Amino acid sequence: MKKNLGIVQAVYPMPVLMVAAYDESGKVNVMNAAWGMICNTDRIALFIDEDHKTTQNLLKTKAFTVALADRAHMDVADFFGIATGNKMADKFERTGYHAVKSAFVNAPIIEEFPVVMECELAEVTSTDSFYAIVGKIVNTAAEESVLSENGKVDPAKLEALIFDQFQHGYYVSGAQVGKAWNAGAGLMKR
Ligand SMILES: Cc1cc2nc3c(=O)[nH]c(=O)nc-3n(C[C@H](O)[C@H](O)[C@H](O)COP(=O)(O)O)c2cc1C
Repeated sequence: MKKNLGIVQAVYPMPVLMVAAYDESGKVNVMNAAWGMICNTDRIALFIDEDHKTTQNLLKTKAFTVALADRAHMDVADFFGIATGNKMADKFERTGYHAVKSAFVNAPIIEEFPVVMECELAEVTSTDSFYAIVGKIVNTAAEESVLSENGKVDPAKLEALIFDQFQHGYYVSGAQVGKAWNAGAGLMKR
């Protein structure tokens, strides 16, 4: 029997996305965002607060990158979700991490995170219930070390962080337990 928990954001797993953008002077800022998801084949939607330094930056530059945080970089990924560039002028610099400019958009790529989507700002949507940034993905880049033999990202090598909204934990999972569009195929034959 289920116990009622009240209003709980019961979606798991959530990603740990590193959203990066330049300010008007070319200074790098990065924030942690779990409320974001692919919303079309070349679009990603991020539900990020309008007041965040990163949001203000990407609204001005109309570009940003979204990287997947991995196990090896958890502490800095979390720090990007605690500190704000609005109050900490050296937020990015104090991590010692490295940024290079994307060849596709006017936004920084953080070298330490293994997979990154380079995005143009496509839409800003504000309703009574949410504020969303939609990015058009114009390129995705990945370190060779996280690719499998077929040239695609291998989750087992990636060790991307997973965020849980229940306990506020970070997790890692790369275990494949089945194939999508396949595990349920047996029921199609009845
Ligand atoms: C695990 C985690 C997930 C977060 N997810 C979001 C999110 O989806 N949207 C959001 O607006 N803020 C989110 N935050 C909070 C921002 O990352 C945080 O407010 C940060 O300080 C903003 O940085 P900035 O002002 O330098 O851009 C998250 C923080 C953590 C630790």
